[in-house]
Amino acid sequence: MSGPSLPEHSPTPVQPASGGVLSWIDRRLPVISGFRKEYIDFLMPANLNALWNFGAILTAVLVLMLATGIFLAMNYTPTASGAFASVEMIERQLPGGWMLRAMHMTGASLFMAALYIHLFRGLYYGSYKQPREILWLSGLGLLLMVMVTAFAGYVLPWGQMSYWGADVAGKAVGAVPGIGPTLEHIMEGSDTLGDIFIHRFFVLHFLMAFAIVAVVALHVLALHVSGPNNPGGRPVPAKESVPFHPYYTTKDLSGLVLFALVFVALAFLWPDLLSEPENYRPANPMHTPADIEPEWYFLPFYGLLQSVPSKFGGLLAAAGSILILFVVPWLDRSPIRSARERPACRMGMAGLVIAFVLMGLVGRHHAEGGWMIAGRIAALYYFGYFLVLLPLCARREMRQPAD
Ligand code: HEM
Repeated sequence: MSGPSLPEHSPTPVQPASGGVLSWIDRRLPVISGFRKEYIDFLMPANLNALWNFGAILTAVLVLMLATGIFLAMNYTPTASGAFASVEMIERQLPGGWMLRAMHMTGASLFMAALYIHLFRGLYYGSYKQPREILWLSGLGLLLMVMVTAFAGYVLPWGQMSYWGADVAGKAVGAVPGIGPTLEHIMEGSDTLGDIFIHRFFVLHFLMAFAIVAVVALHVLALHVSGPNNPGGRPVPAKESVPFHPYYTTKDLSGLVLFALVFVALAFLWPDLLSEPENYRPANPMHTPADIEPEWYFLPFYGLLQSVPSKFGGLLAAAGSILILFVVPWLDRSPIRSARERPACRMGMAGLVIAFVLMGLVGRHHAEGGWMIAGRIAALYYFGYFLVLLPLCARREMRQPAD
């Protein structure tokens, strides 16, 4: 656990705010000099590529989700008899309601897409390695919180998929030996999915959104201690760095504009592309849909859940696929960070992305026939990458003389 002193980037000297009132405030509450130090003058490696835009994109989408979510919550009824009708009212009668909902739904999908890109970027460039372990762990905390929030949000419209998705998730939780039934009862609140369940999930969804904001603040704080990594993976000297503003303000804004174009196209031209038609039918406990499947971003985990023969085994595999990411900084002890400089690791990463997508396709095709075999191979590869390939690469690289 011991290591060299933490910060890798050159700390920016603090300049007190000049001028009467501002300097008076700043001497008592250093928000102005703090803003200058942590944003305007903050030194950034000059070589960051477009993949470093996704943190800013995630932050912007998070703000949008909170803003649209608060207005949706003001018009939503968290009861089994009222939820679906209140969402219909938002769509059809509330002025601009259709737009709020389209933005919130598209936002959820694109948030998850940006999150996966952000995560795989970190894996590829070794951003989890010291001194950024806590930054990585806080990111994974965010991933779990975002997943819970997205799942809870999907339940709220109380359509067919909301209901039956919750039913499948409840049964999966109930399959944990010993404490499963208790956990299922805590989650569902009564023997039938209804008012208590919806109310619980509404509170959870609302609360988690704000808890996420707090953890993002910690995440960014940790980033400001170590400074950002970069595509080369080596510490960048001050002479190859630039101040955040105006360079990265412009770069982040350009990325946001491109992202906004995709967002607007999906939300307003193809609002149904990412949504499930079955969820436009009110929940009916007496009628199981022909196909129960989660939103696209949960499909890889759904695929894993189904590829393992026992229910509990599937649950372990799905949970394990995320939990394993928490120990990556300690599975990969190589001094070389970026996969750009690690050919075996680079190929392994390409395989990892393919395995992840394949697991998603397996989830989509319900792990039947050939898909079942494909799912098992993809699952073996996914875990093999972290438990075998990465430690082996690291061991070989640790034996190489450092340059
Ligand atoms: C609510 C979700 C999240 C938000 C709002 C967020 C925000 C940010 C921001 C603003 C940055 C700096 C800009 C950038 O590097 O792109 C950043 C960096 C970083 N994030 Fe996140 N993040 C989130 C989730 C995650 C997740 C799930 C992980 C993965 C475990 C993660 C790992 C990292 C790492 C390792 C860095 C430093 C990257 C580097 O400099 O190489 N973050 N994040």
